[in-house]
Amino acid sequence: MKYTAESVLQSLRQVVHPEKGKDIVELGMIQNLVAGEGKISFEIQSPKANDPLLSSIKKASSIALRNSFGGEVENVLSIKVNTPVVTPAPLRTGPLPGVKNIIAIASGKGGVGKSTVAVNLAVALAKTGALVGLLDADVYGPSIPKMFALEGERPEIKNINNKEMMIPIEKYGVKLLSLGFFVNPDDAVVWRGPMATNALKQLITLGDWGELDYLLIDLPPGTGDIHLTMVQEVAVTGAVIVSTPQQVALADVIKGIAMFAGEKINVPVLGLVENMSWFTPAELPENKYFIFGKEGCKQLAQNLGLDLLAQIPLVQSICENGDSGTPAVLNSGDPAGIAFSTLAANLISKIEKRNLEMNPTKKVEITNTDGCDVVKPK
Ligand SMILES: Nc1ncnc2c1ncn2[C@@H]1O[C@H](COP(=O)(O)OP(=O)(O)O)[C@@H](O)[C@H]1O
Ligand SMILES: [Mg+2]
Repeated sequence: MKYTAESVLQSLRQVVHPEKGKDIVELGMIQNLVAGEGKISFEIQSPKANDPLLSSIKKASSIALRNSFGGEVENVLSIKVNTPVVTPAPLRTGPLPGVKNIIAIASGKGGVGKSTVAVNLAVALAKTGALVGLLDADVYGPSIPKMFALEGERPEIKNINNKEMMIPIEKYGVKLLSLGFFVNPDDAVVWRGPMATNALKQLITLGDWGELDYLLIDLPPGTGDIHLTMVQEVAVTGAVIVSTPQQVALADVIKGIAMFAGEKINVPVLGLVENMSWFTPAELPENKYFIFGKEGCKQLAQNLGLDLLAQIPLVQSICENGDSGTPAVLNSGDPAGIAFSTLAANLISKIEKRNLEMNPTKKVEITNTDGCDVVKPK
């Protein structure tokens, strides 16, 4: 019998994580799925460290597959379970002590889908039950308000411990702050240098972010002032770099990676996300057209020894959902939804691994001597 990834996922959607109350496909728990002639194999990865429910979820998964495909499926089925180990939360100092992991979403070029990835990743992480915030650091062209259909909204300002704090707006389980909530979108683009960096500092330090598992920071394109301000203000756990598979985009990616990984900034690069990997028309979901070239990021990741965290297809729904403020990952069944859930699951395990193997990142101190910037870790 020939099995397909779609039919297997359809079947596994019947299995609900008892504590999270959501199905295991939606939670992004199914990884490395291979389905074909007389073969089904996959791994079940729990979003929770030391999840005691994993073995019963494994059992429930094989029952679901037997119900869908009949008893013979047991002969061809291989299920592995991965239990992430408990990660001691890294010690954090300075602003945002309640935030366990700060993840920068960066790219070399603009328009490669950084904000789209940040938005869908944030919602996908929140769907796993994690506490998630998203800070729009693209002060020159904030797009988060539109992508959440929150244009014209204004965060409440509250006096907390004698400080005027901004209360992030919450939608789809994600706490959001963006300069776009405070200024006319047409004005933001004329912001320059110190004004822009001050605005970012305020979003970080005067945002009432509270307790978060992940705070994602959606950066502007390139490697500029805003990036330096970010690494001076907070200790960034790691960076995720978004690119298309195209050669010119990849050249800029290398610059972005060099900035984070350089010894002065020293923020670990957690991996690459290949966006617009292939085009898939809605009416021909099996077809893939590699319009920006094939597997450019995958190869670059291999060459640089980095992880490729996900390949996101170019689909019309991602663009339309971005414009209408309903992130594509909310449709857990479609290819975009599955790709973003996979990204979230892979990133969660990568962060756990990073926190086990490496020390917490230090904030960067920048002093100005003789007109030259001297960058050194604090
Ligand atoms: N995978 C995708 N499929 C379809 N459209 C996409 C995809 N990724 C991004 N887009 C669209 O491309 C445009 C640029 O994306 P955006 O996330 O704003 O890029 P960036 O933040 O890197 O400048 C947006 O209109 C967005 O909807
Ligand atoms: Mg953007």
